[in-house]
Amino acid sequence: MELKILCCAGWILMFIFPPVFCCDRCLHKSKVSYYSSSEAVNVGACGYESFASTVKNGDVAAASAKIYREGVGCGGCYQIRCTDPKICSKSGIKVVVSDFTQNNQTDFVLPSRTFSKMAQPKKSSKLLKMGIVDIEYKRIPCEYPGQNMTVKIDKISNYPYFLAVQFLYQGGQTDIVLVDVAQAGSSNWKYMTRNHGAVWSMQQPPMGPLSLRLLVTSG
Ligand SMILES: *[C@@H]1O[C@H](CO)[C@@H](O)[C@H](O)[C@H]1NC(C)=O
Ligand SMILES: *[C@@H]1O[C@H](CO)[C@@H](O)[C@H](O)[C@H]1NC(C)=O
Repeated sequence: MELKILCCAGWILMFIFPPVFCCDRCLHKSKVSYYSSSEAVNVGACGYESFASTVKNGDVAAASAKIYREGVGCGGCYQIRCTDPKICSKSGIKVVVSDFTQNNQTDFVLPSRTFSKMAQPKKSSKLLKMGIVDIEYKRIPCEYPGQNMTVKIDKISNYPYFLAVQFLYQGGQTDIVLVDVAQAGSSNWKYMTRNHGAVWSMQQPPMGPLSLRLLVTSG
């Protein structure tokens, strides 16, 4: 069941700027591997469920701890290319983080279909046989043409006692670090906490139409 609120009564976005040395857009060297099971995508730690198999045609990734950042990294977009010039395409692929991987040899684990898209034409089976490959990656702004950011009520929500939401189609290169909620028109803001992955929740939420206020970092 997906109950979607397209536009709550109001949105307020605020930005904070992290120090420049974070270098959110630098090129990093690492490795990538792939899931043997295609179902792994739908049980991602971010809690996106079926959204993960539809967003960007299912080009999603499980990310290592330093990228996943206990859920802060959920929804982040990355461009990844493997570096073997005989097999790999130059542009590589773009993925959205939907899961966490404990695999300590790679920074990303991809669905095999997504992994094989890094190959040049007719080289995908050769790439798949390699299993784990050297890559370069960088964070990029997420783009969802024709899509507005969407608030989805999470399945663990039990309104009016417990409210749990996730934010889908978050464009740009930002992280959500705080979420506040108030009854529409009220300035009595109450904070939500990150429940797990991309899911924010609170006990005893305000009643009626709600406004949400997000604090995001800008990279
Ligand atoms: C990497 O993971 C393997 C298996 O989970 C473990 O045996 C190994 O100690 C880990 N290595 C490091 C450096 O954490
Ligand atoms: C996005 O928001 C705009 C402005 O509220 C609206 O006109 C448009 O229909 C929305 N697009 C989608 C795909 O919901």
